[in-house]
Amino acid sequence: MVAVHRDWSPFVVSAPGKVILFGEHAVVYGKAAIAGSLDMRAYALVTPRTDSKARMVLPDIGVDVLFDSHTLPLLSGTELSHPSEVEALVPSSISIPEGPGRTAVLTFVYLYGCIFAESDRTTGFTLCVRSLLPVGAGLGSSAAFNVALSATLLQLTGQLQEEGVSASDRKLINQWAFHGEQVAHGTPSGIDNSVATYGGFLKYIKGEPSVNLESTHALRVLITNTNVPKSTKALVAGVRALRDRYPSVVDGILDSIDSVSTTAATLFQSTSEAEETLEQQMQDIIRINHGLLSTLGVSHASLERVREVTAARNLASKLTGAGGGGCALTLIPNGMASGDVDVVARELEGEGFHCYQTVVGGGGVAIARNVDGKVTVEQWLADTMERHNSPADGDDGNVYGRAVAGFATLPAAAIAVLKPE
Ligand code: MEV
Repeated sequence: MVAVHRDWSPFVVSAPGKVILFGEHAVVYGKAAIAGSLDMRAYALVTPRTDSKARMVLPDIGVDVLFDSHTLPLLSGTELSHPSEVEALVPSSISIPEGPGRTAVLTFVYLYGCIFAESDRTTGFTLCVRSLLPVGAGLGSSAAFNVALSATLLQLTGQLQEEGVSASDRKLINQWAFHGEQVAHGTPSGIDNSVATYGGFLKYIKGEPSVNLESTHALRVLITNTNVPKSTKALVAGVRALRDRYPSVVDGILDSIDSVSTTAATLFQSTSEAEETLEQQMQDIIRINHGLLSTLGVSHASLERVREVTAARNLASKLTGAGGGGCALTLIPNGMASGDVDVVARELEGEGFHCYQTVVGGGGVAIARNVDGKVTVEQWLADTMERHNSPADGDDGNVYGRAVAGFATLPAAAIAVLKPE
């Protein structure tokens, strides 16, 4: 049995969301994809309890569950033929919520069962996760949650190093987060959890270690959330069904998407081309990639609208993530004034969408250990919720901005470590 640190101080874990720049869907079939981390993150505050229970509070999706640790199954990882079958093992005393909370509870039961399998279960804790990532929008909110949850459970069972997050820590966190993604999405490629773990820009091929692209180019993007809900699982299944019906046609499209990603990786690392030429080439392959995805049936009228509005200003957009609604990304040329970007964003918001101007490529999972012993989940929660519910004067109504303000109530030491670079 792995010994657990009996006396431990609260700690905070944060993990970024992701944006898939090129190669979504094709990545499920072993093709290359390129993704980058966002400066929008999930933050988990973990505090000790005096009993041996485990409480998980996810206020953004209405989850507050208290688990009696001794009723949770202990898993060696071999009891189930697939992690998504965990539902059968959830104790009857737990009422499983509907919606995204359902997946979060199932994932918790699975990852707790595996990661605590060899550990003393008397370590009581409260885990509270607040996320700045919209749920179900293709920005990797579930992967950021799974990475934060895996890192939390590994930290609680003494399986991580005591300082920073080492390369072997990241490998372990990423492996477990992938299983969490399997509970959530069935057959994920693993790209989302890899970006949330490692950060930066990654070239990813399923089953191979991801390659950090060490990009020489900053990437400004406008992310547009169409606010149209989508199911990654259903969209991935839809592409699979199309491929089953027309294997050679669909394989040709998937191969073309692979070439798009490989070309993009070369562009990212190029030092010889002038910036304007590179931007032009990047715009070309963004347009091509969107067209290919659209032929796979994963676009949506709302995504086509984003493409039209931005194309009218010579900007290139593509869907990002699973499609079917969710988010689009638009490349912002480095020379474009942010006032001009605001004009485009306002036009898109006039269509009922929500826009975020952001830079891609910040840090991956971060852990701030031994944060001020006085911090409590209740205090943190009360403050962040208060800001969510009662905007200050002059507040622009942006929940994202209010939540960020709420995080400032965490101890300064935690904020310094967790701030995206
Ligand atoms: C979802 O963000 C990306 C997909 O390629 C699915 C996956 O990679 O697991 C659609």
